[in-house]
Amino acid sequence: MKKVIFSLVVSLGVSGVAFAKGDASAGKAKVATCTACHGAAGVSLAPNFPHLAGQGERYLTKQITEIKAGERVVPEMVPFVGSLSKQDIEDIAAFYASQPAPVGAADPKLAKLGETLYRFGNEKKAIPACGACHSPTGKGNSLAGFPQIAGQHAQYTAKQLRDFREGDRVNDGDTKIMRTIAEKLSNKEVDALSSYISGLR
Ligand code: HEC
Ligand code: HEC
Repeated sequence: MKKVIFSLVVSLGVSGVAFAKGDASAGKAKVATCTACHGAAGVSLAPNFPHLAGQGERYLTKQITEIKAGERVVPEMVPFVGSLSKQDIEDIAAFYASQPAPVGAADPKLAKLGETLYRFGNEKKAIPACGACHSPTGKGNSLAGFPQIAGQHAQYTAKQLRDFREGDRVNDGDTKIMRTIAEKLSNKEVDALSSYISGLR
């Protein structure tokens, strides 16, 4: 019996969480240089700086690692990520993941089209429902690495969708998950989705 439980724990440990867990309290002491842009608890005041609070740990670890490596180009962050070790990145990710997620508000004029696309996609244009991966509430799927997008600044979200569409953000993997979707979105659809998502909870 002991053996069965042991092998179960081992296999869950390997397949369930494919990344090392950071230490949130150690991370809190490592974010001093990040707070000017991302806020003390990961809730940013400027709409071009993304909120990080409540974001999935796996997604955060991936983004910081790729920004450091230049695979995702964020010039503003270059001076701050170069010296971070793998452990620092994991601790920082754990810290932001442990903070309460922000809540925003949608523009009612844009929200209707945004909601339809988010929940149902558009079959004619072969746009999948965003909620299938990012969850109906926009909370994402932290183990799968699908980011939380609910409550995010609309301006930031719109920039990401345009960057994926134009090929300026290319770190969504070999399957080009987000590039393939974003290239089907018009500017109007990008703005409607971004507004709806900012008010989603
Ligand atoms: C000078 C401002 C600035 C500082 C300081 C800064 N960042 Fe950023 N960060 C940005 C900007 C701007 C973006 C978004 C770039 C874009 O539009 O793609 C970003 C994006 C991110 C993202 C991606 C978020 C997402 O949802 O994909 C993470 C994670 C992140 N920063 C973590 C950090 C950490 C950790 C630090 C400190 C070590 C830090 N940043 C310091 C400006 C900054
Ligand atoms: C098949 C799954 C899937 C679907 C469907 C999907 N996404 Fe994504 N999305 C992802 C993944 C995975 C990422 C993270 C890519 C990476 O690791 O950089 C992502 C990233 C994003 C980001 C960047 C988040 C950030 O913090 O920078 C935004 C915004 C986004 N998606 C919006 C949407 C919208 C809007 C739709 C619907 C039109 C949509 N997604 C549909 C899987 C999906």
